[in-house]
Amino acid sequence: MKVWVPMDSAARALGADDVAKAVAREAAARGVDVQLIRNGSRGMVWLEPLVEIERDGQRLAYGPVAPADVAALLDGTLEGHGPVEEIPFFARQTRLTFARCGVIDPLDLDDYAAHGGLAGLHRAIGMDGAEIVAEVTASGLRGRGGAGFPTGIKWQTVAGAVADQKYIVCNADEGDSGTFADRMIMEGDPFTLIEGMVIAGLGVGATRGYVYLRSEYPDAIRVMTEAVRIARARGLLGPDVLGSGRAFDMEIRKGAGAYVCGEETSLLNSLEGKRGTVRAKPPLPALEGFLGKPTVVNNVISLATVPVIFERSAQYYADFGLGRSRGTVTLQIAGNVARGGLFETAFGLPLGEVVNDIAGGTASGRPVKAVQVGGPLGAYMPVSKFDTAMGYEDFDAAGGLIGHAGLVVFDDSADMLTMARFAMEFCAVESCGKCTPCRIGAVRGVETIDRIAAGDAAAIPLLTDLCETMRDGSLCALGGFTPYPVLSALTGFPDDFATQREAAE
Ligand code: NAI
Ligand code: SF4
Repeated sequence: MKVWVPMDSAARALGADDVAKAVAREAAARGVDVQLIRNGSRGMVWLEPLVEIERDGQRLAYGPVAPADVAALLDGTLEGHGPVEEIPFFARQTRLTFARCGVIDPLDLDDYAAHGGLAGLHRAIGMDGAEIVAEVTASGLRGRGGAGFPTGIKWQTVAGAVADQKYIVCNADEGDSGTFADRMIMEGDPFTLIEGMVIAGLGVGATRGYVYLRSEYPDAIRVMTEAVRIARARGLLGPDVLGSGRAFDMEIRKGAGAYVCGEETSLLNSLEGKRGTVRAKPPLPALEGFLGKPTVVNNVISLATVPVIFERSAQYYADFGLGRSRGTVTLQIAGNVARGGLFETAFGLPLGEVVNDIAGGTASGRPVKAVQVGGPLGAYMPVSKFDTAMGYEDFDAAGGLIGHAGLVVFDDSADMLTMARFAMEFCAVESCGKCTPCRIGAVRGVETIDRIAAGDAAAIPLLTDLCETMRDGSLCALGGFTPYPVLSALTGFPDDFATQREAAE
């Protein structure tokens, strides 16, 4: 009998290790032959620990499972959710990047290959660099870290640069609140990221890669490090990638936890052993990146999506999506929701459908007040904007941004002045200090919001002016985008600012 108990850190935080131990103990006590597989998460976090058992060729889902449920689980008397693929939250998804996550044993390269892994790389090995870059360009893939820059054009810039050494750097410093897609794929399907980095290397002529992984992700660091070791031992990494005669190797580097090290130039400084401060652009990292050499800096999800593009074709991928937002978006639904988790779908779903229908509204049962989309630098979207489609341009037109596609939902008990203050305070704490609008502006921003809270109406236009200065004058997105949450709170929820004022009067 096969039993899957996730080793994903969200599942572990909810007790998956104790459940795994209970399964092993109960099986031994009964003398039943159980093959226990520690898989990644299927992404339905409200059901974790979600245990699967193979019965009649199907994987049946049970969850949340506690150690005390294990006897009934093995007896077949525990009430479950049926085949995992038929759970509505899962059945509605289009899983391309996350197709294998939760399905396979993350550190079994043969299981990976048996589920379509390495097929993309084998195809890429038959292409020259220009053809590889053209395939990525044709897929319409855009940077999933947040900026949405066309990945093919970034690769083209690196491919066209003349240098004795080029690099692929994976940005795994996933620091946005409410985001976990990078962590989930690294813990649940690490070889897909390695395969994507190898294809990127073949495409642009880079022979070395680095994954800059945040120290707050010890499980992902452990899984990725072991996956790199296995990949090297099996010829997926090294001087002769899978017999092609083309070299690519990579290593995992641990970040120290500064939010700004998710900004690509700050990340490169940190990777070089320097303090994580932002570099002015230009020069672009694509031309002068790691150690001054041409470097592709891509987010985990961008690189982990490359294998499926080569496996299924650029056209297949590009056929999903909306407008210039092609393919799938890996929504991370969090905050006050009934059903939180990873939901991969073609771009185009309206925000309201995601929040009300897929996530089931709030966990508290109270009305939804706002959704912060795109991390701590994203706008608070009010219910009146729930018809906004999940697409880069659509969100831009609505005054928001998709960012890394994290959604944090708030009910009507949230006070938006407090949230605006939190955004400014976050910026003040995390600022690298390089430029004045952010370093000084964020501190003054907190003070100005405190004045509004104390009833000083004249401080409202001051806050608006300050936000404009930060937006236009900051060197990077931290200072430049903090006005999104602040101004969206102010304009979308004026009552919360007025209430404070009136209360003080
Ligand atoms: P950006 O718009 O300056 O650049 C986007 C990317 O395109 C960069 O890698 C840049 O080097 C590259 N690029 C631009 N022009 C190019 C060209 N001609 N050739 C080759 N490459 C080119 O945006 P930035 O500052 O890198 O990122 C801002 C975004 O980061 C925001 O949208 C925000 O949502 C997101 N973000 C994500 C976080 C996360 O945890 N994933 C945290 C904080 C912010
Ligand atoms: Fe540093 Fe803030 Fe300026 Fe970015 S905006 S360079 S984090 S001081």
